[in-house]
Amino acid sequence: METIILAILFFFFIITPHVSPEYTRPNPRPLVSRPHNRSDSEPQQVHISLAGKDHMRVSWITSDKKVQSVVEYGKASGKYEASATGESTSYHYFFYSSGEIHHVRIGPLEPSTTYYYKCGGSGPEFSFRTPPSAFPIEFVVAGDLGQTEWTTSTLAHIGAKDYDIFLLPGDLSYADTQQPLWDSFGRLVEPYASTRPWMVTEGNHEIETFPIIYPHGFKAYNSRWQMPYQESGSKSNLYYSFDVAGAHIIMLGSYTDFDVKSDQYKWLQHDLASVDRSKTPWLFALIHAPWYNSNLAHKGEGESMRKAIEQILYNARVDLVFAGHVHAYERFTRVYDNKGDQCGPMHVTIGDGGNREGLAMMFENPSPSISLYREPSFGHGRLRILNNTHAHWSWHRNNDSNAAMADEIWLESLGSYAMCKGITSSKFANDEL
Ligand SMILES: [Fe+2]
Repeated sequence: METIILAILFFFFIITPHVSPEYTRPNPRPLVSRPHNRSDSEPQQVHISLAGKDHMRVSWITSDKKVQSVVEYGKASGKYEASATGESTSYHYFFYSSGEIHHVRIGPLEPSTTYYYKCGGSGPEFSFRTPPSAFPIEFVVAGDLGQTEWTTSTLAHIGAKDYDIFLLPGDLSYADTQQPLWDSFGRLVEPYASTRPWMVTEGNHEIETFPIIYPHGFKAYNSRWQMPYQESGSKSNLYYSFDVAGAHIIMLGSYTDFDVKSDQYKWLQHDLASVDRSKTPWLFALIHAPWYNSNLAHKGEGESMRKAIEQILYNARVDLVFAGHVHAYERFTRVYDNKGDQCGPMHVTIGDGGNREGLAMMFENPSPSISLYREPSFGHGRLRILNNTHAHWSWHRNNDSNAAMADEIWLESLGSYAMCKGITSSKFANDEL
């Protein structure tokens, strides 16, 4: 009898989904398919990413292996006054052979300017807008995208309102070794990823290791989604950083070594030491497995990385840490070492892009005091940095036909917050930065 009562109490008080009473939770939705409907020589899966100061990397795939890695581009439609040549690669995964994957770095480009471009000399014309050189700037953030009808809903809501850069904290295609799903994902996101830079870092669904045959993993991810790691002094596509407007953004790797002796840790120390808050007053980081998480899904999975890295991010006065992995939205207060700390980063879990695994419905009850808003719904976030000191964060839940802003908060940069400038805590005064 006692066991039954305890079980009932557990159900109601520990694993009861945190759901707003006025909101009916939607069901998972099926995968969508985007077949290849261009000729073999025409570009498909076109996407762009920032590639060092005033440069953009254009990436695409052709079934025809002989297509040249050339991008022609210009500021007027059909008039390409410049061109650049890059390189291409391809890979095999068991019986699957990828198309030719092209990466071409173009520039220098002017800020806040629309460029028209053509890939490999044939196929449709594409266009993108470069980000601004100064504030204001708007980032969209959505992790764990996948390729379901919820993904298309999230992407439609993202595309319905202007923004400058898309940030993805891991778990892109959910191909999970089924390589053709990487191709359909590339086609699904092309309308968005060819028009605004997509800056991504890896999640567990990108690993795709197989014992003995593919022990190192990330074969598809690294081939298809080349990020500016060389431009930021990193030796690995699994972690890198970039500057845009007045923000320095660090894309960390949750699934590569991060201990104090690792290449990633040493690179991060060097990267943080080079940040000049007078030039980039805003500083934020993206990871995949969250360090703070009151959802029952993936609880504790980010703990070893938190223990290794949290202190140097805190010392550097990182403003924000975005994570994915948990398929829900959760916003914490500014936090350090499991306690509220006005000089620590605000942590946000935003692994709610729309993937096939569905939502992570169960949160701990009661909510920990550092967790300020949490909800298991698909959606996306927007970070609008207005100036050197102030930014607005908002989270937009996917309703059926529109995106509804369900959470928002104003932020003040720690770079400008006098009390938190430099390393003010005597506890860390002797720590190496
Ligand atoms: Fe994940």
